[in-house]
Amino acid sequence: MTVRKAVIPAAGLGTRMLPGSKTVPKEMMTVVDKPAMHYQVEEAVKSGITDIMIITNRGKDSMEDYFDYSPEYENYLTKKGKMRELEELRKIAEMANITFIRQKEAKGLGHAVLLAKEFVGNEPFAVIYGDDMIEADKPTTKSLIEIYEKYGKGVVGIKEVSPDVISKYCSLKVDKVDDRIYSCTDMIEKPTPDKVMSYFSILGRVVLPPEIFHLLETSELGYGGEIQLTDSMATLAREVGLMAYEFPGIHHDMGSKLGLIKANISFGIKHPEISQDLKIWLKNFVKTL
Ligand code: UTP
Repeated sequence: MTVRKAVIPAAGLGTRMLPGSKTVPKEMMTVVDKPAMHYQVEEAVKSGITDIMIITNRGKDSMEDYFDYSPEYENYLTKKGKMRELEELRKIAEMANITFIRQKEAKGLGHAVLLAKEFVGNEPFAVIYGDDMIEADKPTTKSLIEIYEKYGKGVVGIKEVSPDVISKYCSLKVDKVDDRIYSCTDMIEKPTPDKVMSYFSILGRVVLPPEIFHLLETSELGYGGEIQLTDSMATLAREVGLMAYEFPGIHHDMGSKLGLIKANISFGIKHPEISQDLKIWLKNFVKTL
């Protein structure tokens, strides 16, 4: 069955980005000239997704406004004859069928995904973590969907992280199957050193079968007293198996200060309007360090 729905959880508190995240959700922080969430929705659409549910929270209404029409700007641009800009702006509201639901309390990623149960129904679906941006030629979600279709199992997007940070991520037990493709038989959230299974961790993209909802509903509270998506994916991996894809490209953690800066530089270097000036400035700036 083809994957046409995606869930984008974006209801976390974003405490690592305070005080900025007090009024601007980390998922809406700007990378060059667009919020991170724009890139996430763009990736979903380029992957063949037509229906998206974004999980939001109090104070995150800017996401709904962003994907709506904006009559004030549109009238202004029409009057000024700026038709290209007008078209760009209208396209944003028409990218996909986007619905929103609020997670009233930040009870974890698993709890956020569970809120999309009715929306997803009995279909496989993609989860695009709202604060994990991936810069790649081919959309990572598209690759995961292709692997799902080939193997008929859920797929998680993975990368190796360094041993000193694995305790902040999850750790996967994997066996190589093909180039960049692994079979995953177990995983653990935020492992202590003796529980590390490998340095492969899930970084922001998964495609899951609808069976995950029953596991989430019956899941006990996990790390941090939250409903962890990792715990239910671990059960799925142990009971029916999961695939893992070591995706190419650069991962940007928009939930961290360094990630936000790196994303802006990396995307800025490729942006036709500022690329040259940014490169010159960066070269000179590096000399002053
Ligand atoms: P994180 O664990 O990075 O989010 O979740 P966080 O809790 O906001 O981070 P810090 O530690 O306080 O800085 C990954 C993604 O899952 C969403 C987040 O918004 C983020 O996009 N999330 C997390 C939810 O939607 N609900 C939650 O309860 C937790």
